[in-house]
Amino acid sequence: MTSNFENKNILIGISGGIAAYKIADLTSRLIKLGANIKVVMTDNATKFIHPLTFESLSGNQVYHDTFQRTDRWDIEHIALAKWADLFLIAPATANVIGKAAGGIADDLLSTTILATEAKTIFAPAMNTVMYQKPVVQDNINKLKGMGYIFISPGKGRLACGDWGEGKLADLDTVIHYMENQLCPDRDMEGLRVLVTAGPTYEPIDPVRFISNRSSGKMGYAIAEECIQRGAKVDLVTGPTNLSPPAGACIYNIKTAEEMYETVLELYEKANLVFKTAAVADYRVKEVASNKIKKGQGPMTLELVRNPDILLELGQRKVEQILVGFAAETEELEENALTKLQDKNLDFIVGNDVSTGESGFQSDSNQGILYSRDGGSTHIPLMNKREFAHRIIHEIIKQL
Ligand code: CTP
Repeated sequence: MTSNFENKNILIGISGGIAAYKIADLTSRLIKLGANIKVVMTDNATKFIHPLTFESLSGNQVYHDTFQRTDRWDIEHIALAKWADLFLIAPATANVIGKAAGGIADDLLSTTILATEAKTIFAPAMNTVMYQKPVVQDNINKLKGMGYIFISPGKGRLACGDWGEGKLADLDTVIHYMENQLCPDRDMEGLRVLVTAGPTYEPIDPVRFISNRSSGKMGYAIAEECIQRGAKVDLVTGPTNLSPPAGACIYNIKTAEEMYETVLELYEKANLVFKTAAVADYRVKEVASNKIKKGQGPMTLELVRNPDILLELGQRKVEQILVGFAAETEELEENALTKLQDKNLDFIVGNDVSTGESGFQSDSNQGILYSRDGGSTHIPLMNKREFAHRIIHEIIKQL
């Protein structure tokens, strides 16, 4: 059986992290899948694993930085950059991510990142605190906004002894991402998809609002996946800290009522709707025009119902396929199926948000995709981008 890697030129950039040793296994697996592999290592990477390992596995010279640059060095990065069909940087340290985000090219790896036009994937691996530092997250978001692909690290015991986020993603996931870039499914070409994402903000006064913990990551991942599969995407988003997916039409809203107006305008043209947003069910009846001053006693806010946008879409449905999301802390199946029925949906993704592992604010998710015809598919814990891939794959298959 031929694989999607057959005769593909894969350039692997290894930066200096303990996970560098895992790339030997990855190289061996990709070679078995028929890929041609060349490896660039930073000087620090060569301290974790010897270049000879990769030379033996790939059958090619390994390129790495030397203190004394030769005349060839300048040309090498261009030749490698052009040779690559796909460029994977794994493990990607905070340093290499920072350099790429800042346009810095001061060694062979960073220069090649800047010089290549090949699709480039980063698989970060580092200590949890480093990974979560705003500067690292900002760099990642900036690069994602430019079209670079990131494979979120896994959670677990790190080499430094800490527990948390920062392990190199498992190799199956890395291979899956690479395969997806080499041979993307283009099964959504010609479709127009409407995605809603993030929280809504319901104002109380000029400085306060009611909201929820939605980060928008799930909706953005869905938008990215649909774009990659060839769909045109309208993304209606509440406030988030995320960079908009490249290629989506973005509609920024704050309140549920603004989302309602925008979604209804776009609905008619949509073939598929993913209603991922966490819409506030209530808003404050009278929004104060000045900042509310505290009094002595307790205070009561009167809330009124917001429109249920998805319910409305279900009632107005012509041929659109509607996908809802039900984040539940109890009775997952019963609650999700009731929403599927009541809102006239075709699919609903139910997920348990009572554990910190998945759902709101997390990078990962797990859940069950229920369909109108009574079927259900369990999707285990995985990062949200991968999760988006799985649910869309399942939905397209069932349609
Ligand atoms: N939804 C919506 N408009 C609302 C509330 C929810 O469009 N005002 C959509 C969400 O985007 C989601 C689905 O309905 O796709 C389910 O949302 P959820 O908050 O889980 O359920 P509710 O219907 O609001 O019910 P409850 O809060 O009582 O669980």
